[in-house]
Amino acid sequence: ATNRTFTMIKPDAVEKGHIGGILGMIADAGFKIVSLKLTQLTVADAQAFYAVHSARPFYGELVEFMSRGPIVAAILEKENAVEEFRTLIGATNPADAAEGTIRKKYATSIGENAVHGSDSDENAAIESTFHFAVREQF
Ligand code: CMP
Repeated sequence: ATNRTFTMIKPDAVEKGHIGGILGMIADAGFKIVSLKLTQLTVADAQAFYAVHSARPFYGELVEFMSRGPIVAAILEKENAVEEFRTLIGATNPADAAEGTIRKKYATSIGENAVHGSDSDENAAIESTFHFAVREQF
């Protein structure tokens, strides 16, 4: 079925000027952009968004990184969106990311890995609502 996923272009990729390149790869892969904004997470926002990772050793580093500069938040629509988008972004660690993936092209490290993609339909809805008002979810 046609459904939705949520993505962020992370601060590392925005800093390096890769917004256009990444949105181009997303469009070329057949995703429709239904919501889009340039925004920035506060430390408290990043702590809340990544609360599921709060016990991990990298949590502090992750929160600091994700709040250090602007990000692009977007809701994307496609057949089987969550799984298709995770294929397009590639493995969390860019060293393991397949050729042709966004992380292979744009990620720096396991932490600074250029893009986020929701891991389930349920989290896609939660994360979309974290960033977008209902009236912005076209
Ligand atoms: P993502 O899968 O989008 O969401 C969780 C993030 O935690 C992940 O991307 C990485 O940015 C980060 N992360 C995961 N593992 C590590 C790690 N070992 N060291 C630092 N950051 C990590």
